[in-house]
Amino acid sequence: MTKESVLRDNFGSRFGIIAATAGSAVGLGNIWKFPYVAGENGGGAFLLIYLFFVLAIGVPVMMSEFAIGRRGQKNAYGSFGVIAPGKRWNLIGLMGVVAAFFILAFYSSVAGWTLQYIVSSVSHSFAGQSIADLENTFNTLIVNPIKPVVWQLVFMVLTALIVLAGIKKGIEKYTKLLMPLLLLLIIVLCIRSVTLEGGKAGLEFLFKPDFSKVTAKTFLYALGQAFFSLSLGMGALITYSSYFSKKENLASTAVSVALSDSLIAILAGVMIFPAVFAFGIEPTCGPSLVFITLPGIFQQMFWGDFFGTIFFILLTVAALTSTISLLEVVVAFLSEELKISRKKATVIATLSVSVLGIFASLSFGTLKGVTIFGKSIFDVLDYTASNVLLPLGGLFIVLFVGWFGGKKIIKSELSNEGTLRVRYYPYFNFIVKFIAPFAIAAIFIYCIFWGGL
Ligand code: TRP
Repeated sequence: MTKESVLRDNFGSRFGIIAATAGSAVGLGNIWKFPYVAGENGGGAFLLIYLFFVLAIGVPVMMSEFAIGRRGQKNAYGSFGVIAPGKRWNLIGLMGVVAAFFILAFYSSVAGWTLQYIVSSVSHSFAGQSIADLENTFNTLIVNPIKPVVWQLVFMVLTALIVLAGIKKGIEKYTKLLMPLLLLLIIVLCIRSVTLEGGKAGLEFLFKPDFSKVTAKTFLYALGQAFFSLSLGMGALITYSSYFSKKENLASTAVSVALSDSLIAILAGVMIFPAVFAFGIEPTCGPSLVFITLPGIFQQMFWGDFFGTIFFILLTVAALTSTISLLEVVVAFLSEELKISRKKATVIATLSVSVLGIFASLSFGTLKGVTIFGKSIFDVLDYTASNVLLPLGGLFIVLFVGWFGGKKIIKSELSNEGTLRVRYYPYFNFIVKFIAPFAIAAIFIYCIFWGGL
């Protein structure tokens, strides 16, 4: 063993690995995007297609990232360098670091709003507000030049403190606490929602398969959503798996993480739609669903501020376990490649992401006029990362594993050096070689030419 691998921190338990990795996957994407996209695209029919993609394509791609990271024992950039020395494959890792940077900048801005909404719910400041008032409250908050930035910085500091504490004593310790908390909170809110009178229509909106709404676009949405939701395509999982134990069964870990992520996405739908329908409100999507429609519903509900507080804590927890995985991608890269301490790397990464993040936050108000290709700074970061860097990264990862990474290396990682049976290997190989590149290329082309998902 080299000195470096002795010194490298690792996850200490299987539960820790699952909590951290599922924590990365479960995020804002599950809670506000999935339910709406599913409801609009045929409910149960979309759900079936989505689950099929998660298992048939998401899991093999996740296993590929795991195999690269655990073999490389380094950050996303360095791991490619270990497996394919002297080749330029490590540029995929570099692209991942850039994607992490971009996603973190806009994601932390939204996460900052969730902190403000916890405070507002606890202090009953939404009391008596109609939907129109709430819309005004939200629009006033996001254009404010100071408040959102301060909350965003608070969120970045929280993220940095956990990352700074390391893998075992930071990321693992906190995700092991936060993920069960998240499950508990979402179950409480689901029970509240489905027991509301008139909530059944919401469950129908989500689950009743309507195949007439299924088009080619539905398949692309489902695959794109699966990628973002499972945190694939930019090396977050390469970075995490570099801290996995050599005994960890990568295939079963990938299946557990994918199923937990899907379960939370479905529960998010069960939590949101019965309440939306019970109060006769049009389901909306994106920020307005979470920051306007739902607070409106809480105001009409008995103990509304209590449930509102729980909901925004849930969102904050979901976002936090995702942002630590994004920051870790940058920190691992900086500390290992520039050979600086983790502490220094965390400070540099947090400060530089925060600067970009402030621009993203201000692009709703003060910097509204600054646009790039007609998009605000926030939207440019989101678009470039989600629609360009992630699918492109995912494509290169599967091309690498399927065609260039060395069958022996990948097989030896998946089988823990021959100690586990990998009867699934021919299927895995076929998917990674032929199916996944084709499917990902389809979303990519669609995103670029038809303006995204
Ligand atoms: N998966 C998270 C969500 O659903 C977001 C996220 C965290 C992510 N890390 C990522 C997305 C890496 C893509 C790549 O909200």
